[in-house]
Amino acid sequence: MIVALNHKSNFTKEELLSYLDAYKNLNTYNHEMILIPSVCYLSLIPSNLTYASQDVSSKDMGAYTGEVTAKAIRSLGAKYTLINHSERTTKMNENLDISKQKLEQAFSNDLIPIICIGDSLEEHKNGEYVDKIKKDMDYLLSDIDKSKDFIIAYEPIFAIGTGIVPTNEDIEKVTTMLKETYHKKILYGGSANEKNIDELKQVKDIDGFLLGGISLKLPSLQEFLNKL
Ligand code: PGA
Repeated sequence: MIVALNHKSNFTKEELLSYLDAYKNLNTYNHEMILIPSVCYLSLIPSNLTYASQDVSSKDMGAYTGEVTAKAIRSLGAKYTLINHSERTTKMNENLDISKQKLEQAFSNDLIPIICIGDSLEEHKNGEYVDKIKKDMDYLLSDIDKSKDFIIAYEPIFAIGTGIVPTNEDIEKVTTMLKETYHKKILYGGSANEKNIDELKQVKDIDGFLLGGISLKLPSLQEFLNKL
């Protein structure tokens, strides 16, 4: 399985270095681990590990003060980048148009996008969520060659960092639609942890997990991996 570790905006340099030191002793079995630290630490990740960026600029290289381009991130050895994480759209006021530009930047700079897609609690409750997710995905992928390499992460927005996880049956409505429509690897993300992994790993049509909170705590992550 793929296990992607989204550190979000956590850790000082010293904290990350001691995390990396302890990470060496983690038993990751045969899972494909992807470390996703804050972008400023990408060059601290040992080259034998696979790592990703949490975001890329929607712009190409040039006069865009403060932006971190996909080209620069790729040159630091990152293999993947998250695109359209709901914390970008709900907390940083980005929208699907910006995410689409970022997706194009990732593709044109040889970064494999992990496209995050999710529904709000309201959309989930009124049953429109499968259609809404398909509509958003189709918009992001419009004019893009679907045979390109990408991963999709289904992350219900109300599940991120809250401890609320939809039922497997509810998750499968999305993961099965995503698998049948796009034929790519599918991750689940949103409060997945060492306590609910026994249940979540039974979700159909998933190839791994995108982890936030638990990715920061190596003993819990180890328990998660032991059960995966
Ligand atoms: P969480 O975050 O595991 O803390 O819910 C997941 C994510 O935001 O990718």
